[in-house]
Amino acid sequence: MSSRTVDVDVDADTERAYSSLFGVEFDWKRNRNAYAPGLDDVFCSGKYILGERCKALERDLEAYVTSPSSAQSTPALATPTTPTTPTTTCVTVSNGTDALELLLRAEHIGAGDEVIVPALTFLASATPVLHVGARPVFADVDPVTLTIDADDVRRRYRQGVTRAVVVVSLFGRVSPALAELYAWATRVGIVVIEDGAQSMGATAADGSRSCSCTHSHHAFTSFFPTKPLGCFGDGGAVFTRQPGVARLLPALRHHGIDSVDSATVLGRNARLDEIQASLLACKLVMFPDAVSVRRARAASLCRRLAHLAPRVSVPDQCGGGDHGVFGVFCLLCESVDMAAAMCAQLRGQDIASKCYYTRCLCEYAVFDRHSGDDDDDGTVPAQTCDHTATRNVIGRLLALPMHAYLVEDDCEKIATAVQSALSAYDVQHLAYSS
Ligand SMILES: Cc1ncc(COP(=O)(O)O)c(C=O)c1O
Repeated sequence: MSSRTVDVDVDADTERAYSSLFGVEFDWKRNRNAYAPGLDDVFCSGKYILGERCKALERDLEAYVTSPSSAQSTPALATPTTPTTPTTTCVTVSNGTDALELLLRAEHIGAGDEVIVPALTFLASATPVLHVGARPVFADVDPVTLTIDADDVRRRYRQGVTRAVVVVSLFGRVSPALAELYAWATRVGIVVIEDGAQSMGATAADGSRSCSCTHSHHAFTSFFPTKPLGCFGDGGAVFTRQPGVARLLPALRHHGIDSVDSATVLGRNARLDEIQASLLACKLVMFPDAVSVRRARAASLCRRLAHLAPRVSVPDQCGGGDHGVFGVFCLLCESVDMAAAMCAQLRGQDIASKCYYTRCLCEYAVFDRHSGDDDDDGTVPAQTCDHTATRNVIGRLLALPMHAYLVEDDCEKIATAVQSALSAYDVQHLAYSS
């Protein structure tokens, strides 16, 4: 996958991989021959929901997340002749947001409970907390790793009220705080959930994979098309090592039905369909190669852009060596102005770019009502937006193209464009200030 060779009807010379942030549009064109037989099987089967393909995908994902990370080749996926004995159970669901909501429901988290979530992440790391009636409490991030600050989590923890911490493996790097928080949370009796929506394929420093639940009670991922392991629509998966939760999840995603005519829990309709399962099973076979390409391109971009630091730097997050999957490849610009101007400049040069996370989560109005100060008995501490490290990077993160369809020439083009966008910003800035 290191060059544009896979498909027959793609004109390599006219494709502009650098003009796509996540390369979503290239996937079908390159790999349609690999996807077609599985799709044909599904369509001919007449069974589109809760069939064998979802079950097989769940076994494959369990095998993948628990396989040794050094294996860069195709993992030994579960087949009827090579049974695996995973310690981690996977249950596929409709999307990453529902995955988190179902996990919170499986843990019986609801009204009166608090869940700590990082202030720097996508909305969906926190909105499921509202959906189950609990209160999200936002913790700051570490200024270097940009993932949740374990000390701030401990500061915001309230015994008997805090029930869970969502640790986001932001931008495709397993949060370095995960293991520490898991050890602490286990001691104080609360639950750690890894939000692996952006990090399927990444490994922690000890080689354990994102979503393996090696350093968390539960984890989830998203198969939204732009994610490292994206499907062709919405999709998600839950991972757990807790047998009780593993037993509840299939019912929670399917109207509460746990056997033919029994429903003892209030369930949802939150299922993955067989079409997406078939596509994902095929994609998972190609995934280790895709991860290798992403790592090589990320390393190339880091090398080519290193001289721009400290004005434009590659955050620790994205420079994280051969462990990350670079779900989003972001540069950190000196100022908000610079990020916005460079984003416009890059787009003008046909290079895809986007400013990532332009608000601290606690600034979204949807969370106002749960801010604490007007709670009935006055015992809930008011939530102030005092997230210094998060506020410091808000608006300054500039995402560049990152996907498995980039080739080395694209990296050169992107790096040159970044350099000229910075020069253009400087010229403009000087003109304004003189
Ligand atoms: C960090 C994070 N968490 C959760 C989600 C939610 O995933 P989904 O879009 O599949 O519901 C996303 C998706 O964008 C995400 O980036």
